[in-house]
Amino acid sequence: MIGKRGRNCLSFVLVVGGILMGCAKSDPFIEVPISESSGPQPYFLKVPDHFPEPLIPDDKPMTVQGVELGRKLFYDPILSGDFTQSCASCHNQKFAFTDNELRVSVGIDGIEGDRNSMAIINLAWGARFLWDGRSATLEEQALEPVPNPIEMHLEWTEAVERLKNDADYPDLFDGAFPGQSITRTLAANAMAQFMRSIVSGNSRYDAYVKREGWARFTPDEILGEQIFNSEVGDCFHCHGSILLTDNEFHNNGLDSNVTNTGVGEFFSTPSQYGWFKTPTLRNVELTAPYMHDGRFKTLEEVVEHYSTGVKWSDTIDPLMKQATQGGLQLEEDQKRQLVAFLKTLTDEDFINNPAYSDPNSK
Ligand code: HEC
Ligand code: HEC
Repeated sequence: MIGKRGRNCLSFVLVVGGILMGCAKSDPFIEVPISESSGPQPYFLKVPDHFPEPLIPDDKPMTVQGVELGRKLFYDPILSGDFTQSCASCHNQKFAFTDNELRVSVGIDGIEGDRNSMAIINLAWGARFLWDGRSATLEEQALEPVPNPIEMHLEWTEAVERLKNDADYPDLFDGAFPGQSITRTLAANAMAQFMRSIVSGNSRYDAYVKREGWARFTPDEILGEQIFNSEVGDCFHCHGSILLTDNEFHNNGLDSNVTNTGVGEFFSTPSQYGWFKTPTLRNVELTAPYMHDGRFKTLEEVVEHYSTGVKWSDTIDPLMKQATQGGLQLEEDQKRQLVAFLKTLTDEDFINNPAYSDPNSK
């Protein structure tokens, strides 16, 4: 990895470059080599220069061939029982890798799950995965949807047979993992590599943070940002940092009767009933509906929840302000300003980046 000094020099070049170009929209990325390996070429993850270092496991290096294989698998319905569904069916790039408008996801057999599809954004910085955190690693997570009867519903043994008999996959696997035979573990490893390559760091908010002229905020957006990042709205306690999530789990007061949901249900710990993963708010304008069960259709409804809809329960997070009085009690102006700010988190480069799109539809 490039040390701090290397990064600072590059940032300096970018900042000066930005000034010389009259604050035109500049490429915010610097390249950090993640791994060195003999056969497959190392993949250089494009880390925005105002981001922390990603958390790539040492034993799961990213390679050009691995990311490309993972991308093909992610978009390939070969991994579903009846060849109709791929990961991308529920994780569509145009909607920041969620499934547009669906409250809960629907699998190949038409069975509805009870969870809203999650965005795939900056997971190279993520620690635990899924709404209730039941996957400790991205590799573990990537194994789950294929055999899941309410998702792709295909036994992995059958999926691996299909891949072995395919015209392209044997060569692609050999390129990414030389000398190894195709297994579910390698397929999940490749998909995790692709998902770690999906980075969003060029919204108007990013440019605002970096004081780049192209992203000038309106008065509403400025005030919304102040509410978000101060004790007035308190959002930053959980959706803070440049990642717009603390990658932790909390009960944000959706229900008064939380008996067996979320982290608490999975780990059988009643003190964690109603705890769910804090979603990143990057691209949140595109990921409606909201919350683990998709209960809110609009950002206005979400803000109203934090303002007057908060329900007290034994496991509510202490960071939820005025929880016994229903929430923050914001003025109408403040609610409008918060929503305006949330919309500055949309990253057009991210949803149009060809590197994340379906490799078969070019
Ligand atoms: C039928 C729709 C559907 C399909 C198909 C699907 N997902 Fe998901 N995905 C979801 C839902 C719903 C969740 C949240 C599930 C939960 O928390 O229980 C989710 C969560 C995730 C997460 C967790 C993100 C986070 O921040 O914790 C990742 C990563 C992910 N899916 C990747 C994949 C991959 C890879 C595939 C293909 C192998 C896939 N998904 C197929 C609906 C789907
Ligand atoms: C105590 C931590 C905490 C605080 C404070 C907090 N949130 Fe959240 N937020 C969460 C959690 C956890 C979820 C997911 C809850 C669920 O689905 O059950 C969430 C979900 C959301 C969502 C839905 C995102 C999606 O993809 O579904 C939005 C939008 C949101 N919060 C905005 C805000 C705003 C705006 C504020 C400040 C007014 C705020 N949050 C304060 C923890 C918090």
